[in-house]
Amino acid sequence: MTDAQSFYGRWATLYDRLASLPGVDSWRGRAADALALSPGDAVVEMGCGSGANVPHLRERVGPTGRVVGLDVTGEMLARARTHSDRTGPEVDYLRGDATRPPVDGVDAVLATFVAGIFPDPAGAVDAWCDCVVPGGRVALLNFQRSDAALAAPLNVAFEGFVRLSAPGDRLSRASHASAFERRVRVARERLTERTVDRRYEAFGGGYLGLVSGRVV
Ligand SMILES: C[S@@+](CC[C@H](N)C(=O)[O-])C[C@H]1O[C@@H](n2cnc3c(N)ncnc32)[C@H](O)[C@@H]1O
Repeated sequence: MTDAQSFYGRWATLYDRLASLPGVDSWRGRAADALALSPGDAVVEMGCGSGANVPHLRERVGPTGRVVGLDVTGEMLARARTHSDRTGPEVDYLRGDATRPPVDGVDAVLATFVAGIFPDPAGAVDAWCDCVVPGGRVALLNFQRSDAALAAPLNVAFEGFVRLSAPGDRLSRASHASAFERRVRVARERLTERTVDRRYEAFGGGYLGLVSGRVV
């Protein structure tokens, strides 16, 4: 079992509660909008956790569409299946590695709060772009340091938050804060290389960055 599996497995119930708080839920709507989905589309969420984005994705693809949630942690997927608005005939949950997704020919990929986890974020973004049909969109939502005026003290809090929310022991968590930011940057850069019609928006006081692009 990997560090990520045991960490997210242990915290799955609490994570599930926090993941759909009203403010957080509005971020998820914005992330789903960035995919420009149409009814009937197939969308995959990489590292879907407890499925908090799934209601937003279902709403956009409709009953003729398909939503696949892929995650490596069984406890997270089990939480997702307990919510009636996250399950249905058009929703599938797969347990597997998002860096080698077992899907192909989908219309869109969403990855929220996961790009900073992977040791090879560029490879993960490549794998995600490769499973999307030409013209489909890929969107990445992540926490980031804010450039907003007066954000400096809160950026220290941001660093602490990233450390606490990282898998691993205390020592590896300390290095995780800088590794997290580097990985998110690398993932965004690779998405920029792989896509056109790119969009970026920052919200949540600048602490959230949503990057999306269309695969060619
Ligand atoms: C911070 S949570 C984000 C969950 C969800 N995307 C959200 O927005 O609430 C990170 C998730 O990534 C999953 N994860 C970590 N490494 C993974 C991998 N290699 N493949 C698939 N999922 C992975 C964890 O199990 C966890 O559910």
